[in-house]
Amino acid sequence: MNKYRVAIVGATGLVGQEFIKVLEQRNFPMASILLLASDRSAGKKLFVNHREIEVEETTPESFKKVDIALFSAGAETSRYFSPIAAQSGAVVVDNSSAFRMTPAVPLVVPEVNPEDIKWHKGIIANPNCSTIQIVVALYPLHKVNPIKRIIVDTYQAVSGTGSAAVEELTVQAKQVLEGQTAIPHVYPHQIAFNILPEIDVFLDNGYTKEEWKVVEETRKIMHADDIAISATCVRVPVFTGHSMAIHIEFSQPMSPDEAQRILAQAPGIKLLDDPTISLYPQPWSAAGTDEVFVGRIRRDASHPNGLVMWVVADNLRKGAALNAVQIAEEMIKREWLHPRGGK
Ligand SMILES: NC(=O)c1ccc[n+]([C@@H]2O[C@H](COP(=O)([O-])OP(=O)(O)OC[C@H]3O[C@@H](n4cnc5c(N)ncnc54)[C@H](OP(=O)(O)O)[C@@H]3O)[C@@H](O)[C@H]2O)c1
Repeated sequence: MNKYRVAIVGATGLVGQEFIKVLEQRNFPMASILLLASDRSAGKKLFVNHREIEVEETTPESFKKVDIALFSAGAETSRYFSPIAAQSGAVVVDNSSAFRMTPAVPLVVPEVNPEDIKWHKGIIANPNCSTIQIVVALYPLHKVNPIKRIIVDTYQAVSGTGSAAVEELTVQAKQVLEGQTAIPHVYPHQIAFNILPEIDVFLDNGYTKEEWKVVEETRKIMHADDIAISATCVRVPVFTGHSMAIHIEFSQPMSPDEAQRILAQAPGIKLLDDPTISLYPQPWSAAGTDEVFVGRIRRDASHPNGLVMWVVADNLRKGAALNAVQIAEEMIKREWLHPRGGK
């Protein structure tokens, strides 16, 4: 079996740490692993498969002996280093927003559009965390009954913002409970015991950039430019696990039973849908797992062709690290990734 030389750029971050776990848990065929971050973390030691490995500063020379480079170090770092890594011969799977809407870069969720991997030119983009769980849940239904319109409201965990935001919620929760004033640093307002309808910057059209990513990325992944989509993305004081209420208008009516039957067979999905015993997806129980959980499937009382559902997934795993590793696995399975001497 071929083994591959892997690099993680942003290895010290929340997604980077999850990359390490996912690679270990899935027994990814690694010939070697290079842990890269900024100069701030150079020399720090991390464990991979019980081996202590020193984190190195990312430089243009870092990628000379790398087959696959998993990037999760922000858009600016990706914009600079991803093309260099690709030029050096590595295939880049990039978690940032830098290249997602670049026409020449495939944007991939393996359960939906694995064939798009084939036309990459060195860089493959991993979608936004919310978009991933939307398309995993909706694509199997769309194949049977084309979707005309989606309205989605998200409830997104603070780990989606990175390690500084996790620290902010931890500190603020304690401050509020002790009667102190919570000073925001990462977010514009207090996040503990509060919710913020602002994720990423506001655009001229009144949506936030996060909301617009959901619109554009969903259409690109599903190859469905004509689906009407509107999103409201909300940050909530949850550590891990993004939740969302999705309202779908199909071309034809679809019963909740039919949707359940389709989703029960669909890859990457677990149905948790029994209101009689209060069974529905929750971020608390989705954290640390791989599936996209779907529940509360019901008719949309406002439209004859409408359904409503509640969808939850771990934003660090399926929303980031796991999806990227699945892209690499898909390339290996389809013999689209070849080690350059790293057998
Ligand atoms: N969190 C999520 O749910 C999620 C989901 C999808 C996509 N993403 C994307 O993944 C990326 C990282 O997110 P995160 O949550 O892991 O953030 P994080 O916890 O803040 O970690 C950021 C990582 O980037 C590294 N980094 C920063 N500047 C760098 C530079 N100039 N060169 C090399 N490495 C640099 C940091 O290294 P140091 O330790 O040296 O600072 C750290 O390892 C972002 O692009 C984010 O949009 C995140």
